[in-house]
This record gives sequence, structure tokens and C-alpha cells, in this order.
Amino acid sequence: MTATETPVAVVTGGARRLGRRLALRVAARGYDLVVLYRRSAEDAASLAQEVRALGRSARALQADISRREEVASAFTDIGETEGHVDLLINNVGNYNPQHVTALDPTVWDATLAANLSGAYYCCYHALQRMPDGGSMVNIGMAGLEGIRANTRGADYFVSKTGLLVLTRALAKGYADRRIRVNMVSPGQLENSIDLPPPDEIGQSVPLGRAGTLDEVAEAVEYLLDASYVTGANIDIAGGYRL
Ligand SMILES: NC(=O)c1ccc[n+]([C@@H]2O[C@H](COP(=O)([O-])OP(=O)(O)OC[C@H]3O[C@@H](n4cnc5c(N)ncnc54)[C@H](OP(=O)(O)O)[C@@H]3O)[C@@H](O)[C@H]2O)c1
Repeated sequence: MTATETPVAVVTGGARRLGRRLALRVAARGYDLVVLYRRSAEDAASLAQEVRALGRSARALQADISRREEVASAFTDIGETEGHVDLLINNVGNYNPQHVTALDPTVWDATLAANLSGAYYCCYHALQRMPDGGSMVNIGMAGLEGIRANTRGADYFVSKTGLLVLTRALAKGYADRRIRVNMVSPGQLENSIDLPPPDEIGQSVPLGRAGTLDEVAEAVEYLLDASYVTGANIDIAGGYRL
């Protein structure tokens, strides 16, 4: 395959769930797709097939993004094949609801490595291949701004808060190239692993329901067009923990 002018989107953790929806939505908007997956090879292959049926090119590449060398080699491959990265969506985010008093250091290391360092490795390598005017969207977690004392999942909240700080630093650092870097932060999504029952969700979500994957995708799509928005974090969360 040779490099084309068609914009290329790279979506991490894109084979399943939210990442898959985001990948399909950006492909429907005219991006060729590279989906990075870790274990979900079949889902990644079926996504690539689905995207090709939309008339776009699509490839699935295996990479554990917590491993620097695997990220480097995936982006070398992208550089040689697609030639450029116009949009990076850092969607990987592992959540382990261990209580902070029992938080295992190996879990801490793994969460920070995938959710924060892995996202940075992808930003670093994508930026080497990103034309001026490109874009990055990091998927965060709503309710970050208050830096609340979350006793469960402290490693996760540290990683997502760190990702917000990184988002803002990159936004400022790359503004002279018109590369916009933003964050979209869901709260409780319909597929959340610890979704409260319907009669209790209103206690933490003022709008009284879980968000849909499409509602998150709409925010990502908004950012693709929002030429004057950078360094922003958009909570798509129904007022989660206001
Ligand atoms: N779901 C929610 O309610 C919710 C709420 C707030 C925020 N979010 C955020 O939204 C994003 C997506 O959420 P989700 O629930 O759809 O995610 P998920 O299913 O937990 O994970 C998405 C994908 O991440 C990939 N992944 C994990 N570790 C990886 C690694 N080291 N290297 C490469 N890929 C790795 C996995 O790929 P493989 O399957 O290929 O191994 C997985 O399919 C996350 O950032 C999450 O924090 C979600």
C-alpha cells in the first residue's frame, strides 16, 4: 500500500466497545483507519472488514501500548504504509476497582504503564508523522477536575488525571503547528462494569441515566471540526459527580 492524501486515524484499544464505536464513526467521516489492539485479534479484523465495507482502507495492528518498543514498531509500520497520522485517539484505559488500602504495586505499574505511559508513547510516535493541523483526542474520565479522593481505582484516576495534564501540555506545545490536543471524558457509560442500578444512578448522575457510546463519539466528532478548541476536556457524563 502507498501513502495517500486521505486522512488517517489511529485508534488505540479500538477493537471492541467504545474504541470500536469511535473507530467506526471516524471512518464514516472519511478517515482511513489503523486500529491498535492487544488481544482482540478477531474483533480487530472484523472491524477492519467493516470499515473497508464503508469504502475506507483499514488495518489492524497488534501492540501492547505499555511496551515502548511495540508502540515504536507499530508506528514505524504505519509510517511505512499509511505514511502519516492525522488523528490519534488514545482510547485505552484499564480500570481496576481495588481499594487504595490494598492496591497492589504490580496493578499500579500496569495501570500507569497502559493508561498514561502508553498514551504518551502513542502521542510521541504519532506526532513524528502528524502533519500540521492534525489532531489528538485522549479519552479520560469525568469528574477529574476536582481531583476527588477516589478510594477505589486510585491508580486509574491518577492515570487519567495525568493524561489530562499531558493533554494540556501537548496542546500548548504543539499549538504553533496547529495540532490540537483535547480530552473527552465519559462518566458512567451504558457498558460500564460498575454501573449502578437504574433507580440509583441519579445519585451520581444528575441526568439520571448512563451515557451511550454514540454520545461520546459525538463529542469526538465535534472536536474534529472545532478548529479553535485545544487543551480542552469535555465531560460527556450527564453531570456525573457535579
Ligand atoms: N466504559 C465506561 O463506562 C467508561 C467510563 C469512563 C471512561 N471510560 C474510558 O473510555 C475508554 C474505553 O472504555 P472501554 O470500557 O470501552 O474500555 P475497555 O473495554 O476496558 O478497554 C478497551 C481496550 O483497551 C485495550 N487495551 C488494554 N490494555 C492495553 C494495552 N496495554 N495495550 C493495548 N491495548 C490495550 C484492550 O484491547 P484488547 O481487547 O485488544 O486486549 C481493550 O479492548 C477507556 O479509556 C476508559 O477509561 C470508559
